[in-house]
Amino acid sequence: MNIRQSLEQQLALAMTQAGIDQPSPMIRQSQRAAFGHYQANGVMSAAKRLQKNPRALAESVVAALPEPSEFTAEVAGPGFINITLTDSYLAHALSKQLLATKPTVEKPERIVVDYSSPNLAKEMHIGHLRSTVIGDTVVRVLEHVGHTPIRANHVGDWGAQFGSLLAYLDEAEASTESAQLSDLEAFYQVASKRFREDTAFAEKARAYVVRLQAGDPELKALWQTFINTSMDHGQRVYDQLNITLTRDHAMPESQYNDDLQPLVADLMELGLIEKSDGALCVFLDEFKGKNDQPLPAMVQKTDGGFPYLATDLAALRYRHHTLKANRILYVVGASQQLHLKQVIAVARAAAFIPDHVMTQHLPFGLVLKEDGKPFKTRDGADVKLIDVALEAVDRAKNLLAARSQGLSEQDSQRIAEVVGIGAIKYAELQKNRTTDYIFDWETMLAFEGNTAPYLLYAYTRIQSLIRKSSLTMTDPPTNFDLSAPQERALALKNLQMSEALDTYLDDYQANVLCNYLYELAGLFMSFYEHCPVLSAPDAVQISRLQLAQMTANTLKTGLELLGIETVERM
Ligand code: ARG
Repeated sequence: MNIRQSLEQQLALAMTQAGIDQPSPMIRQSQRAAFGHYQANGVMSAAKRLQKNPRALAESVVAALPEPSEFTAEVAGPGFINITLTDSYLAHALSKQLLATKPTVEKPERIVVDYSSPNLAKEMHIGHLRSTVIGDTVVRVLEHVGHTPIRANHVGDWGAQFGSLLAYLDEAEASTESAQLSDLEAFYQVASKRFREDTAFAEKARAYVVRLQAGDPELKALWQTFINTSMDHGQRVYDQLNITLTRDHAMPESQYNDDLQPLVADLMELGLIEKSDGALCVFLDEFKGKNDQPLPAMVQKTDGGFPYLATDLAALRYRHHTLKANRILYVVGASQQLHLKQVIAVARAAAFIPDHVMTQHLPFGLVLKEDGKPFKTRDGADVKLIDVALEAVDRAKNLLAARSQGLSEQDSQRIAEVVGIGAIKYAELQKNRTTDYIFDWETMLAFEGNTAPYLLYAYTRIQSLIRKSSLTMTDPPTNFDLSAPQERALALKNLQMSEALDTYLDDYQANVLCNYLYELAGLFMSFYEHCPVLSAPDAVQISRLQLAQMTANTLKTGLELLGIETVERM
């Protein structure tokens, strides 16, 4: 339970005692939240309902509150209740938090998180950054608060494009050019070019698709070679970006092949299928196209093949039946909104998943270049994600070389990796998820402002402070002395981490967490400026060191949840 929830609970009790039948206190942080001020609403609406004087009612609520050890409460304005946490409560809560284990949810759920999910025909490119980074934060936070997230990497490993790739791979292998697979992107470009320009090749490619789908063992083996190579490429990107996905989390499209025919048969039996130009479709009232024309959700193509939507329906069934999910989250671009709406609506209409299994699309916008145009190389190709990651590390290394001296080569490489990769991820997470954003190296790598380098630097400042003190911190923690306003503000901020997590879990906007950490680091900086630590008498020094240490822990945990590592110096 976070501070706000605890206040709400106590207030609701007092409201009941003051004769309010349906107590609904709304607690929000007041303007001066940094000092532990909260404001409670809910008395005024109750007063209206009960036809009572709001101020008098508020007074009786305050009188019914327990002995004020945690907070002081007073009536303000037309009937608000202002609540201020006491120093002793903050100090006590802080000591408890030092010892506390992780927060836990009351009802742990199994939550499938569909994220990253690249197409294996090509190499991962900048367009996959958002789903991968946003989704990885979702699973990290869910895990942290006690849910069981199930990582579902719905990789695209099936479909017509594999025809040309396999036809080309076959040729290349025969002429010992198989090394070309090391550059998957170039391989894809050549194969598609051959497909467009060489009719004999195109024919072969089509025949390969048919043979592959019919389960031809030779082609299956060739396909597996290709998929393995592509998965290795992807894993390299995940490792470089410190993403928690592994091979075990791949739930590829092909895994649902055998489920597709029965799925269509089930829809048929339910009377949901209509034939439209030879294709099998589901028409639902809620989907209308141009001129109010009914919009089909196609589940089988005219040539008998199964489209993307059919696979997603099968995946949804699997997630319910086999994975036993309570909730399914899709971290997928905003451009696929309609697709996912259709998938979910058809699944609900067919009762493939029960009502209590929740589904939610977490859409995101595009990554744009500085000029606001789509992110492409000069010749119009996609920018490979691995190249972006390596460039980030390079840039960070150059910046750090100018700032910090006396680090070993090994240390500077390590720090550059943490700072560079952290910068890309933080820049991503700190933006509103739903809108497009501009990828800008300079802003994300700045040591000032709401960036990863700034937070990482704040963390190392604390570590260096702690290293410099000759005092050893006592365990269990001492009492905190919070007499300076900067100490109080920093203490309170530390205690509000769980509030930040709760707010994040409302709709998975990671900028809530970023802003929280940024404010925390800012409060530490002003604490450090105003409250001398090393020159203070022992008792004060210990309290301040503890507060610093706690801030470092909070920062580290927060960054970890964003998938960002920390370093001890930089
Ligand atoms: N592979 C798809 C793409 O690259 C994304 C898959 C998203 N997940 C899903 N269940 N449809 O666009």
